[in-house]
Amino acid sequence: MQAINVSIGFDAKLWAQDILASKAHAAMLGAQGIIATADAAAIEAGLTAIGDEIAAGTFSFSDALEDIHTNIEAGLTARIGDAARRLHTARSRNDQVATDFRLYVRGAIDDVLAQIHDLMRALAGRAAEHAASVMPGFTHLQTAQPVTFGHHLLAYVEMLARDAGRLRDARARLNECPLGAAALAGTSFPIDRYMTAQALAFDRPTANSLDSVSDRDFALEYLAALSILAMHLSRLSEEIVIWCSAPYRLISLSDAFTTGSSIMPQKRNPDAAELTRAKTGRIFGGLIGLLTVMKGLPMAYAKDMQEDKEPVFDATDAITLCLAATSGMVRDMTVDTARMAALAGAGFSTATDLADWLVRVLGLPFRDAHHITGRIVAMAEQKQMDLPDLKLQDMQFIEPRITQDVFAVLSVAASVASRTSHGGTAPALVAAQAAKWLEALA
Ligand code: ARG
Repeated sequence: MQAINVSIGFDAKLWAQDILASKAHAAMLGAQGIIATADAAAIEAGLTAIGDEIAAGTFSFSDALEDIHTNIEAGLTARIGDAARRLHTARSRNDQVATDFRLYVRGAIDDVLAQIHDLMRALAGRAAEHAASVMPGFTHLQTAQPVTFGHHLLAYVEMLARDAGRLRDARARLNECPLGAAALAGTSFPIDRYMTAQALAFDRPTANSLDSVSDRDFALEYLAALSILAMHLSRLSEEIVIWCSAPYRLISLSDAFTTGSSIMPQKRNPDAAELTRAKTGRIFGGLIGLLTVMKGLPMAYAKDMQEDKEPVFDATDAITLCLAATSGMVRDMTVDTARMAALAGAGFSTATDLADWLVRVLGLPFRDAHHITGRIVAMAEQKQMDLPDLKLQDMQFIEPRITQDVFAVLSVAASVASRTSHGGTAPALVAAQAAKWLEALA
């Protein structure tokens, strides 16, 4: 029974939240005259001392005492005697653990948000630096149209801004205090739930005692937001892996973010990116795991809910590492702008610019322009040339009205410079967007 029931091995992580919530509860009990103010003061001092012991690593946790709540209460009783035995008046471990866990998730959200902002700053900084660095833009991982590297990096800034928004939304919904719901029905003692809610910086007490002890939506929303965030980081990691592979060679990572091979001396493996990509699995797993734990539970609390903590702790550890590694890689990477520019021009990447020119200058319907451009591309392919290297006569052979002016739109630089529609890749727009983000994140 003890082996399956015990949780101190992982919920000891909640010690600071447990002490904070117990102090708020004791102060409220004292203020409401439910316990003597002298007892409340003794409890508060005792809890501070226990917190110091735990922080110093000298507190001894016992498996026989099951969880963090009973361990701390037993420690308090050993230290201050009878007053400690009054602390659990008008509460239960059910509202206690719900409160502790909300406090933990709220703190974790704040920490993750700070890390997201740091990564956004890193990306926006590199984007400002590379607002005009051209690279091949891909769809289907096939060369599509040239874009700027800064534009590409800012796409991730947008994703991360939504991730931060999701976490802020989750935090706002989470920020109600379940303490005082007691076991499930509320309590007959004249408690002041607004007082404890305020002491713990919650916006208000929760409204329904049954929901208070049985709700783990806040943990699920957190895991869901982390899952989407991890998915974004995994996509960026995948791109980093591709970009620094030898056939692409668009970027390189320093020794600080790579490892060598035990057999191949030339290798520089992007392990940090690969592990960021891989850790996504455990974060998704945490979300699916906890959803599955919760899905069949009748009201109100059930011990199943003790399984809520490890996936949240594990996902928090994983995302913390992933965000730190990603920020590090983004700041560390060396960008090979010459190589990027060379690849940006390969693969007939300015074919759309040619088609657009036929529409704009010759007044052709886009479908016809598309067809003519296809024939010109086929000819270039046959001659093993890129579009800007074709002769005017070659193009005129297919469409006689084409003039020398067309060459102005066939270069990669002209292509990106022309993409000035709202949200487009034109260097001037990218520079402005990067500056906007850097100012917002300052
Ligand atoms: N360790 C328990 C948990 O994590 C605390 C609540 C226990 N409540 C109870 N009625 N046994 O959920």
